[in-house]
Amino acid sequence: NEERLRRVRERVRPFRDFPVPGVLFRDISPLLKDPAAFRTLIDLLEDHLRASFPQIDFIAGLDSRGFLIGPPLAQRLGVGFVPIRKKGKLPGPTESVSYSLEYGKAELEIQSDAVEPGQKVIIVDDLLATGGTMCAACELMKRLKAEVLECLVIIELKLLKGSEKLKSVPFYSLLQYD
Ligand code: PRP
Ligand code: MG
Repeated sequence: NEERLRRVRERVRPFRDFPVPGVLFRDISPLLKDPAAFRTLIDLLEDHLRASFPQIDFIAGLDSRGFLIGPPLAQRLGVGFVPIRKKGKLPGPTESVSYSLEYGKAELEIQSDAVEPGQKVIIVDDLLATGGTMCAACELMKRLKAEVLECLVIIELKLLKGSEKLKSVPFYSLLQYD
């Protein structure tokens, strides 16, 4: 596992002062570009989820970088994928929650019929910074009365203490950075 994690970690690239001064951006483009490394990433996430949860109904992914890992992971597990999008992108009845971001403010939406009450969901994204985005996604799932088994990300920025914001919802990150 150490070796597999190392192969994933070495394909995350840091960029200083993007998208605004003071932010160190962790870019997963090299990971997406390398099919073997990307497969290893999905292998690790699949292994973790299979070992932790006997039943999962859906993987929910966060617009937009959560869409890069959510669908391949859902396919591996043989479960469906549900998109949680930025405001104004989804047709039909929706639930929405506003939240503040590491840089800026935004609103997330889910289709009201995306999940049934009681269904077991894993929420995935590329990265947890302040936790504002993930928290908003949890609130959307709460509105639909779904059960969030876990919030899962590739990268956790530890110094921002985003996982504390998630309170009682279980949280898992593959890679941690200060
Ligand atoms: C980034 C990242 C996470 C979120 C983390 O997304 O992909 O979704 O910020 O920040 P937080 O923990 O402080 O809320 P961003 O909103 O920049 O948009 P994108 O995924 O569409 O690029
Ligand atoms: Mg994002």
